[in-house]
Amino acid sequence: MRIIQTDTYQAMSRKAAAVIAAQVIAKPDSTLGLATGDSPLGVYQCLIDWHKSGDIDFSQVKTVNLDEYRGLSPDDEQSYRFFMYKNLFSGINVPAENRHIPDGLAGDPAAECARYDDVIARCGGIDLQLLGIGNNGHIGFNEPADAFTKGTHCVGLTDSTIDANSRFFAKREDVPVRAYTMGVRTILSARKIVLIATGERKAQIIKQAFFGDITPLVPASALQLHGDVTLVGDKAALSLI
Ligand code: F6R
Repeated sequence: MRIIQTDTYQAMSRKAAAVIAAQVIAKPDSTLGLATGDSPLGVYQCLIDWHKSGDIDFSQVKTVNLDEYRGLSPDDEQSYRFFMYKNLFSGINVPAENRHIPDGLAGDPAAECARYDDVIARCGGIDLQLLGIGNNGHIGFNEPADAFTKGTHCVGLTDSTIDANSRFFAKREDVPVRAYTMGVRTILSARKIVLIATGERKAQIIKQAFFGDITPLVPASALQLHGDVTLVGDKAALSLI
């Protein structure tokens, strides 16, 4: 594992964006696994800026997002599809047909999970997966559990995740209670993984995930089993390691 520590959130964002840019420059038809949340906003802004200045071309890139709330339509402002359009896709040139996110409105969850695994396979697998980390160690929506998850599945969200995500909704009751997510096995099958972490509130879980036991009770601890993980964090998030 490589650890890159930066002084600020902005510097963390630039470093992680640089790793993604290097991937796309070296392999223009890369498949990028993408995340939502607060952590990647700065990374996405850098990628938009570098695209606008002519430094990165995304015209052959394919993207697969980690997760999506079940029950939200793509034009719901809280859906991850909406988030990705607003914060990244509207500013870069990944063709619309190359952008993949689980369909929150799919009628048959099992069929949607199988379809999404097939989409990832048809993209040739994930070259680089960008991850954030939940305060409870979740990656994607893989919550602490008795066993590591495998492929895409539909999960019930824990109270801790619903609490954390309620900041984006008018009221807690509006937070969807189920979501689609890539499984831990899917994430580990990515050729490269970049996990970003910012702020003191992530310090404890970063220590547990990367230096504690490998256990499904801390889903991110599975990343210790991967051969090419880069942890990019600001000094507050890395303060306990
Ligand atoms: C989002 C996702 C989540 C977040 C995690 C951290 O697609 O998969 O696992 O990465 O909840 O969220 P932030 O970055 O908001 O702290």
